[in-house]
Amino acid sequence: MTEPADPPFVEFDRVQKSYDGETLVVKDLNLQMPKGEFLTMLGPSGSGKTTCLMMLAGFETATHGDIRLDGKPINNIPPHKRGIGMVFQNYALFPHMTVAENLAFPLEVRGEAKTDREARVHTALEMVQMGDFGARRPAQLSGGQRQRVALARALVFEPELVLMDEPLGALDKQLREHMQFEIKHLHEKLGITVVYVTHDQTEALTMSDRVAVFNDGVIQQLAPPDELYERPQNSFVAGFIGENNRLEGKIEGIEADKAVVRLKTGELIDATPVNVTSVGQETLVSIRPERVEFKPENFDEGAHTIEAEVLEFIYMGDSFRTRLRVAGHDDFVMKSRNMLGQERLQPGRKLPISWHPQDARALDAM
Ligand SMILES: Nc1ncnc2c1ncn2[C@@H]1O[C@H](COP(=O)(O)OP(=O)(O)O)[C@@H](O)[C@H]1O
Ligand SMILES: [Mg+2]
Repeated sequence: MTEPADPPFVEFDRVQKSYDGETLVVKDLNLQMPKGEFLTMLGPSGSGKTTCLMMLAGFETATHGDIRLDGKPINNIPPHKRGIGMVFQNYALFPHMTVAENLAFPLEVRGEAKTDREARVHTALEMVQMGDFGARRPAQLSGGQRQRVALARALVFEPELVLMDEPLGALDKQLREHMQFEIKHLHEKLGITVVYVTHDQTEALTMSDRVAVFNDGVIQQLAPPDELYERPQNSFVAGFIGENNRLEGKIEGIEADKAVVRLKTGELIDATPVNVTSVGQETLVSIRPERVEFKPENFDEGAHTIEAEVLEFIYMGDSFRTRLRVAGHDDFVMKSRNMLGQERLQPGRKLPISWHPQDARALDAM
């Protein structure tokens, strides 16, 4: 006999949300997270990420469906009884309280004894390297320090689940990258479960175990970072994560692992079918810039060759970006490493470029 599997730690089960009774801003959300996972909700502004987090936190109620924590429905449990820590970009610290008082507050609300509170506040501040700042007020801290205090305040009561909504959005790039590292480190050290919201794909890819890509209230794909990048399941994900060349065409033949696509300029190319199913269907063939080569003689057997014209050659230090005209598209980009002897291509030059059919993915035309 097999043991019944543990229930997921966090579960959204057919969750819908409408604010006005008409439009669904979250359409049919199904999501299961194991304990200890770092999951990021990534998507453009307005795609429903914050709404999902607010429903999990208990500040909004789902219009339909269930949200479960550790197997138990939490629809009717008030926010402060859910044991969830929260860090929001605009979830300000109390300005009239010192840092230590800010941290003690969630413990007071939970009825902790004063001596325990002091010890916990001390530990939480040490954890974010703010041990010496307990007596300061928020106005006397830098943006990064305030964000660290907000993080400590979310962690001080040792929640098992922490929600973060664009917590680093107000920080400059260098500090943001540093804090990304610190948050990731704390996640690993404390073994907490994190739901993180961002519209920044680099942040999502570098921090997460899995990423849920949102658009229009729907999860478009839920996968580990490398899978999202290597195997996007539709045109939205392919376009949202990383850079992509797209060639318009029509499916002329299709088998399980091979599609023949007639490009709009007439050329026939092979591609890997992803979410296209039938002959005659419009498609966008997506190819990553780093998977394109301009030395077909060095390329594996089975590679595709197509005529291209150089429009622009950009020196980027470690790499070159060459903008090409390919099959009627003027925005086709090839990225190549700056290696010894690598030729710098002159605009106007015509040459064959190639890629492997595995790297050309036939996706929906959107
Ligand atoms: N309190 C609210 N009342 C009415 N509409 C809202 C409210 N909060 C968000 N919305 C709408 O719901 C949609 C999703 O918003 P949101 O969840 O904030 O998206 P995101 O966090 O991905 O930017 C948007 O169209 C937004 O305008
Ligand atoms: Mg938001």
